[in-house]
Amino acid sequence: MKKRTLIQAAACTALLSAGPLAWAQGAPFKIGLILPMTGQQATTGRQIEAAARLWVAQNGDTVAGRKVELIVKDDTSLPDQTRRLAQELVVNEKVDVLAGMGITPSAMAVAPIATQSKTPLVVMAAATSSITEASPFIVRTSFTLPQASVGMADWAPKNGIKTVVTLVSDYGPGIDAEKYFTDRFVFNGGKVADKLRVPLRNPDFAPFLQKVRDLKPDALFVFVPSGAGAAVMKQFGERGMDKAGIKLIGTGDVTDDDQLNDMGDVALNVVTSHHYSAAHPSPANKKFVEAFQKANKNLRPNFMAVGGYDGMRVIYEALKKTGGKGGGQALVDGMKGQIFESPRGPVFIDAQTRDVVQTIYLRKVEKKDGQLWNVEFDAIKDVKDPGKAR
Ligand code: DHB
Repeated sequence: MKKRTLIQAAACTALLSAGPLAWAQGAPFKIGLILPMTGQQATTGRQIEAAARLWVAQNGDTVAGRKVELIVKDDTSLPDQTRRLAQELVVNEKVDVLAGMGITPSAMAVAPIATQSKTPLVVMAAATSSITEASPFIVRTSFTLPQASVGMADWAPKNGIKTVVTLVSDYGPGIDAEKYFTDRFVFNGGKVADKLRVPLRNPDFAPFLQKVRDLKPDALFVFVPSGAGAAVMKQFGERGMDKAGIKLIGTGDVTDDDQLNDMGDVALNVVTSHHYSAAHPSPANKKFVEAFQKANKNLRPNFMAVGGYDGMRVIYEALKKTGGKGGGQALVDGMKGQIFESPRGPVFIDAQTRDVVQTIYLRKVEKKDGQLWNVEFDAIKDVKDPGKAR
């Protein structure tokens, strides 16, 4: 009994992040960035790592006198790996901040570690509404699916779309997208002919698309995670769904800037709602896209990159506010309420929810200078996560 208590106490101490003590000893400020660098979600990891490194290149690796160290780990998007890596980073590396989180199950797996060790967890990608409620140490710089879906549900019925079928990946963000899109669409007088869910891992869209073709709605609303959009688009085209008069709409995950340019003409005129387009016409974004492409063999940044870039800003600003000292709670407090201009537009970290408040844009895929872009044509300002009003 006594021995067990001792072991538990030792484990607890090990889980307490070093924070101010490390500062006093002149130790580096460590950011443990856990991302899917291989496997199905690899583009998410590639985009976020590139953006985080760009942030450091542009803003220096010293903040308030403290050297910043990025430690990147590949979780292959398996939540058991994410958990194991987070534990290792907290206990052995004594990281000051955990960050990344390519998919929702990864963020959920790490939430208890963040709480227990009082380590801030900056979620740069995962987008299920409830994530920020899983730990008071979570701060999000990506978006939420309810936030991105509601704008499309308002736009569609005003633009000739009266019946839809929804097709979503069968896990947190897909279920959020399905619920918030269809509730609002029905409220606006629309009809939902069917709600289809495809597995997250190795999805085969063909039988689902065949079903949609038979139902012949005005539009198919799609949510699939970043990296899966091109496959949906290809099969949508191959089945002649566009020619059969079915429109493709969705959140901007499906016309992901990482893949959009290779999707071909089937993507033309697809309308989506989202928080970031590489074509966002602000000087800040032009500068960001140019620098990102220059540093990454012309790779176009997508919404994941922006989540990572802004996540780094939020960490840097919080560290500055603590005068380089850090400390779990002090850092989270320093992240709350930050307002800044992101490449996506104005962004606010809501102090109550620790979630991101931002503009949601309606965008249409257009060809410009031989390339495909999500061209913004309308904007809904200051959108809070509708999922938080439950
Ligand atoms: C999530 C992952 C994505 O790639 C995306 O585009 C949206 C949400 C997620 O798992 O939360």
